[in-house]
Amino acid sequence: MGPTVDSPEVQDEANGLKRLLLDSVSDGSTLGRTLFNERGDVLLRRGALLNRRYIESLRDRGFRSLYIADGPDDDLAPDEIVSEHVRANATASVHRFLNVVATARLDRRSGASAERTMSEEAARALITRVASLRSVVESVIDEVLQANNLPGLTELKTHDNYTFCHSIEVTITAIMIGRELHFDRAALRELAMGCILHDVGKMFIAPQILNKPGRLTKEEMELVKSHPGAGYRFLRGFQPDAYLINHVAYQHHERQDGTGYPRGLTGQNRIGREGRSGRGEMLLIAEIAAVADVYDALSSDRPHRPGMAPDQVVEMIRSMAGTHLNREVVNGFLSIVPAYPVGSAIHVTEGSFTGFCGVVVNLNTQRLDRPRIRLDRDRSGRRIDPFEIDLVWEPLTQIAIILFDRELRQAG
Ligand SMILES: [Fe+2]
Repeated sequence: MGPTVDSPEVQDEANGLKRLLLDSVSDGSTLGRTLFNERGDVLLRRGALLNRRYIESLRDRGFRSLYIADGPDDDLAPDEIVSEHVRANATASVHRFLNVVATARLDRRSGASAERTMSEEAARALITRVASLRSVVESVIDEVLQANNLPGLTELKTHDNYTFCHSIEVTITAIMIGRELHFDRAALRELAMGCILHDVGKMFIAPQILNKPGRLTKEEMELVKSHPGAGYRFLRGFQPDAYLINHVAYQHHERQDGTGYPRGLTGQNRIGREGRSGRGEMLLIAEIAAVADVYDALSSDRPHRPGMAPDQVVEMIRSMAGTHLNREVVNGFLSIVPAYPVGSAIHVTEGSFTGFCGVVVNLNTQRLDRPRIRLDRDRSGRRIDPFEIDLVWEPLTQIAIILFDRELRQAG
């Protein structure tokens, strides 16, 4: 990254979609991506003009950053692969399911001690909620199967909606990976259900610990690490036959090299095998969930750090292949995730146009890492007649996503 591109004046001027920390959003900016609440309802739609009041109320809700679209390129909307309606249904279903889990947990606290003593009423409510999750998962699969690639931008989350939104995002990503690995419909269904339920164990941890901005103490860390086991035991309690689905909750924090938790399972970094793995090895379905989980977690704002930019996340996941994540699953994932989503503000870091700024206009589905870009600022930040370059034909040109805020830039 050269000195000119680094200068905030130039980057502030760049067009396209940028993620800004709330403190840096100014009155009159245009919202670049629709925001949803924890029930999946629209809070503020893409294209809305932001004012102080909106910004403050988004801060109160726990948003940390926003996508802002500026300049003449605001017609370039990032791909949305799940419709607003299906997303709202899915978020609401997850929300209701997890609420029932939280209630069932409270029942237990006040009286008996183990999940098998859950009241009949709570058990019935859970079964109804899971049935509604199953039907919503069908529509998510239908829509995701129509998409060419992932949008590359994560939904922005708050404390309140993190677990719900995260479950949906992980599900969407996992379905795309599953399709890439030629899963049939039945296998996609199990994968999706496993992912939508993968963090159910978090309902057993106090929100103050999950949302703690600072470093966790050793005891708190142990508690957080108990969520896969707690989730698994809970799921097994009311759906003992859903072996694969329940094991996604149990195994999604395990790693290929055996350094994950809770059991230190290992992986062979391969896809080809039967559904069930050897003793002490991860299931493929959980290895896919692990990639989808890490992808959304790195992209999202968390209490202790802002989310990373899409190109940084892709690089990070590539670097985790082999040790942490299944290498072949990561390869499948990399062929469907754009490092430079459509509409993103970018600058050129190498090649004859080094220092120029512009925006991603088009993805090449064969080469998601080499999109078509439109440059509209020269290296001194002056506006120029826009021109487009197809990076597939310009192998020496390298680009990076512009993150407006220093804090966001340093997050990676
Ligand atoms: Fe988790």
